[in-house]
Amino acid sequence: MSRKMKNQVLKGLTIERIAAEGKCVAHYEGKVVFVPQVAPGDIVDVRVTKGRNSYLEGEAIHIQHYSPDRSEPFCSHFGVCGGCKWQHISYPLQLSYKRQQVIDQFQRIAKVPIPDVLPIIGASESTYYRNKLDFTFSSNRWLTSEEIASGEEFERYALGFHVPKRFDKIVDIDHCYLQGGISNEVRNKLRDYALEKEFSFYDLIQQQGLLRNLIIRNTLSGQTMVIVQFGEENPEAIREVMTFLQEEFPEITSLLYIINQKKNETFHDLEVHTFAGKPYIEEEMEGLTFRVGPKSFYQTNPAQAHRLYEVAREFAGLSGDEIVYDLYTGTGTIANFVARKAKQVIGIEYVEEAIADAKINAAENGLTNTLFYGGDMKDLLTADFMERHAAPDVVITDPPRAGMHNDVIQTLLQLAAPKIVYVSCNPATQARDVALLSEKYDVRAVQPVDMFPQTYHVENVVLLTKKPNL
Ligand SMILES: C[S@@+](CC[C@H](N)C(=O)[O-])C[C@H]1O[C@@H](n2cnc3c(N)ncnc32)[C@H](O)[C@@H]1O
Repeated sequence: MSRKMKNQVLKGLTIERIAAEGKCVAHYEGKVVFVPQVAPGDIVDVRVTKGRNSYLEGEAIHIQHYSPDRSEPFCSHFGVCGGCKWQHISYPLQLSYKRQQVIDQFQRIAKVPIPDVLPIIGASESTYYRNKLDFTFSSNRWLTSEEIASGEEFERYALGFHVPKRFDKIVDIDHCYLQGGISNEVRNKLRDYALEKEFSFYDLIQQQGLLRNLIIRNTLSGQTMVIVQFGEENPEAIREVMTFLQEEFPEITSLLYIINQKKNETFHDLEVHTFAGKPYIEEEMEGLTFRVGPKSFYQTNPAQAHRLYEVAREFAGLSGDEIVYDLYTGTGTIANFVARKAKQVIGIEYVEEAIADAKINAAENGLTNTLFYGGDMKDLLTADFMERHAAPDVVITDPPRAGMHNDVIQTLLQLAAPKIVYVSCNPATQARDVALLSEKYDVRAVQPVDMFPQTYHVENVVLLTKKPNL
């Protein structure tokens, strides 16, 4: 019966709360209905898009009554662009929903006793906080329904973000509130220049075109890296584009390009060419310098990353005598950040270039007590590894959204370090992993940190200590 409900309109549903991944929850005849892009307190008419026996999914087609908790979105691209989906919710409320998400995930998935979740650490800047944006060139700009209805002809070249769930449609971005510095100017001037010069924008369906992707990375200290991906090997056109950027933006400290003729925009396996400046940028934290290359991960909200690392360091409770493992170390940021308070830190990460940066970062900061290894965690962190290295007193782990591989969790259980500090950008997978670790560990503290204002994403740090008598 539920499948037959597809396209049915459910009138006047009250949006009750926010669940995982920012979806709002209402009820219809006792059944949960998930609705995106609304706010608790709204009363909405919902068209069912998916019917299942246990729940329904739908989209709001009309808002009968706006929640008093709503705030006015500030970005002209809100609603079309997938970037800042929570602009219609005030920042203090965003924070309380995020903390609640952590509580819900631990109750629903981890099902282990936890202490009171600490008040979330909010960001002092809720706009222009990102240090990295990734824009796509496209010959198939997303047209709004008003533009289509007008019957006018529009420029179809675009440089911006993907429309959610549409790999082939790009929203042309005029101003993005996520990244400050010269980011908006670089994107807009490059687009104007390319249009004037009639360079082709990438056709995502035909997989051809000169200009493919633009990545802008910057640091709190004002350095900027710009990476342009080209879909064609055309040295003359590439030189023209890169020279334009170099001359127009002398502030760019690292100007790079990549020729990418693969089916996707990832470039971990491609050569990065330095056109001008250095092949990396450098971020600073507590007097330490962190070198970040084009292929390396660095937390995308550097101001909040500092707060996050402070929490991790505090939970680790280091006195200077400890052996610390920093799993999923990236460019060794956490490892180097805690090294001055530890006897030795061992970092593991699978991006080789990040490991190279981690070693350079340690050396440049005069840290001699760190060791870094490159490889897949489940293959590296084994019984053999443990035999060759001192056993950890503290394990800090910061895996990607998917969480830790089961083999890694089994090794951690075998290692049985007295403390694990688990940093995660996905409380659902974190809760799943904590449930597995609860065989030997108790949860001692849970601290959410907001790294991504205007989105439903939440970072969370959990302190686990080994159960007594184990
Ligand atoms: C969330 S980031 C954490 C980075 C670092 N802790 C920081 O704060 O900058 C996760 C890191 O895990 C790495 N990674 C992902 N899967 C991995 C695996 N299977 N083995 C080792 N490292 C992995 C990624 O390359 C990335 O650098």
